[in-house]
Amino acid sequence: MTDPTKPSDDGDEAPVAMAGTPLPGARPGRRPGGAGMPPGSVMGRPAGPGGGLPVGRVGGPPPGAVLVGGPGGRRGGPPVPRKVAWGYVVRSLALLRPLRGLVAVSILLGLIVTALPFVTPAVWGPIIEILGRVASQDGLGSLQGVWGASGPRISRPDGTSSGPVLSFAMWLTIWAVSLVLSQVLGFVRAWVDAQVDWKLLTEIRQRVHDHLQSLSLDFFTGARSGALMQRVQVEAGGVQKLLTDCIIPPGIDAIVLVAALVYLLNLSWQMTIASLILSPFAFLVLRLVGNKLQATTRQIMISSRHLGGELEETITGISDIQVFHAEQRRSERFEEASKAAAKNSAMMVVWLQASSRSTQIFVALSTALVLIVGVAFSTSFGLTLNSLIVFVGFVPTMFAPAQRIIDAYTSYNSIVPNVASTYELLDTKPSILERPDPVKVDEVRGNIVFEDVVFGYGERQKVLDGLSFSIREGETVALVGQIGSGKSTIFNLLLRFLDPEHGRIVLDGHDTKDLSFDTLREQVSKLSQFPFFLKDSIRENVRLARQDATDAEVEEACELAHIHSVIVDPAKIENGYDTVVDVQVPSGGQKRLIALARCLLRKPEVLLLDEPTENLDGDQRVRVSQVIREYARERTCVVISHDMDFIAAVADRIIVLAGGRVAEEGSHQELLARGGLYKKLYEAQDVDDTAGADK
Ligand SMILES: Nc1ncnc2c1ncn2[C@@H]1O[C@H](COP(=O)(O)OP(=O)(O)OP(=O)(O)O)[C@@H](O)[C@H]1O
Ligand SMILES: [Mg+2]
Repeated sequence: MTDPTKPSDDGDEAPVAMAGTPLPGARPGRRPGGAGMPPGSVMGRPAGPGGGLPVGRVGGPPPGAVLVGGPGGRRGGPPVPRKVAWGYVVRSLALLRPLRGLVAVSILLGLIVTALPFVTPAVWGPIIEILGRVASQDGLGSLQGVWGASGPRISRPDGTSSGPVLSFAMWLTIWAVSLVLSQVLGFVRAWVDAQVDWKLLTEIRQRVHDHLQSLSLDFFTGARSGALMQRVQVEAGGVQKLLTDCIIPPGIDAIVLVAALVYLLNLSWQMTIASLILSPFAFLVLRLVGNKLQATTRQIMISSRHLGGELEETITGISDIQVFHAEQRRSERFEEASKAAAKNSAMMVVWLQASSRSTQIFVALSTALVLIVGVAFSTSFGLTLNSLIVFVGFVPTMFAPAQRIIDAYTSYNSIVPNVASTYELLDTKPSILERPDPVKVDEVRGNIVFEDVVFGYGERQKVLDGLSFSIREGETVALVGQIGSGKSTIFNLLLRFLDPEHGRIVLDGHDTKDLSFDTLREQVSKLSQFPFFLKDSIRENVRLARQDATDAEVEEACELAHIHSVIVDPAKIENGYDTVVDVQVPSGGQKRLIALARCLLRKPEVLLLDEPTENLDGDQRVRVSQVIREYARERTCVVISHDMDFIAAVADRIIVLAGGRVAEEGSHQELLARGGLYKKLYEAQDVDDTAGADK
């Protein structure tokens, strides 16, 4: 039992980095840009799967936690080397191939939407120049003749000009159209990007999920399912975010920035230098604030995980908490976690403000500098009012894409571990592979031989240590032994979920390593010790064994398992075959028989039953015995059970395991007469039964 005052194990993971952007929920490349728009303001996608914010999981690592190596993922390991990370970037780019049409449209729209805000300062130069010229014509400032006036894109102090000469109305139209287009295309771009996002996310998650299904059992040994779920749900999303947040948008921003610089250089290289003079300082400050934002987001994730963990423990452990009067201690722990979470959220606001305010300061300083330098040196730099206004407008507009590039870089660093974790998982090969040219046996007969099999889950552990036995076609053999003696392991070895370290397992004369998985797993069926159920109808749970089975076949299998009459009796299972399997419904015993029906649906030639009578009452035990007598009469059946009376009733032969080997072998009567381990196990059960009856 867990100590109700102890924090969960999940609570103290130090090296946690967020999967997403440095700003929670923000997408660096897709903040609406534009003059006057504070680049530091947090805009973008809402939090959610694959987004930057925690998605409401209680306990466990937060979405985006950096986990390292093994089934659990990249958990605080060494940083991903640059070259390796680059390899992952290249591999990720290949994912774009099937979406190249959409991506091309997205890039094109991105270029237009990012460039459009520059149209405003570019056309306001000629607009203001025309206005100024018309206003000064009569010396009274009247603008009456403005609609008939026209002006060039760029005018120079020597009277020359460049670019088209357009009417005032035309310049105004270009400006207005650019503003409207920028919003409309911005929306279209968001829609196209959303298509790319979800398609990429679905593709990569599917790959990871399907790959996970192909891995061998040993990969899952010791893996925390929470961490594995994290890898599929969140970390896989890192690959999508790498592409859609850290590569494509900054690429677009960089192209537009270069184009803007070329435009400015064309006007005046001296003024271009003046407008860029503060950039290194701005870069440093924005990087610093970006790092702080990232660290704070990380803190928010850790603290909200703690808070969730505390709450979960209070709720799940409420009876123990009340029994042990631990309420006060729990309350203190909750307060501590709650305070930290609230404080971190508050600090986030502070750093967001710092980001937006510092950007505004640099925008203001750079603009003022451009204005002062421009006015002071207009003649020597070849500037007119027209081009000075272009500079004054371009400087703040350039801040938006520049900051998005910085954000994308920060984001890239936090996403790379998730990307690496995803590719490491995809690169993990199943440890148990089918032979390239496996033997397919159409009809397995069921002769099983274990020859000197040695197996252990760890280096120092020998679960089976030279195990040898054979089972003839049609025999019903029981495997008995103390708990942990390796009985379930034998089934997993036979089905090649595991491979022996030494020795071989032979089915109908073929080493199981030579047989195809289909031969093995379609004709050898196992009722697991802990059967798995989908949260779906009883019918679909049975059908799991054979997707093409008709309803009639499902019902036939249930009849074979002696559970059909129970399922169709509304007094026992209300909705019959449509009843959704849940924790309580059907009952434990009913579930076991449904799982047995699932095994029988495949009509296997070899039936492996691991504790088939667990949770069963006397009547149900009789039903299972009947299955073995009827279905398995001419087929091979291996039963593992601690239920000695059941074994005595059904087994032709009993194999007793001890020390990883066969300790005794024979019929029930023979083994009892022998007076060895079997007799001890049998008599121990009688003692248990008597003790149970006494209670
Ligand atoms: N995936 C695993 N990783 C590490 N050890 C394992 C694993 N599965 C089983 N073991 C260990 O191997 C030993 C044999 O396990 P196994 O499940 O085969 O025993 P069993 O005879 O079926 O026991 P029981 O009667 O309790 O079901 C046990 O000590 C168990 O703890
Ligand atoms: Mg077992």
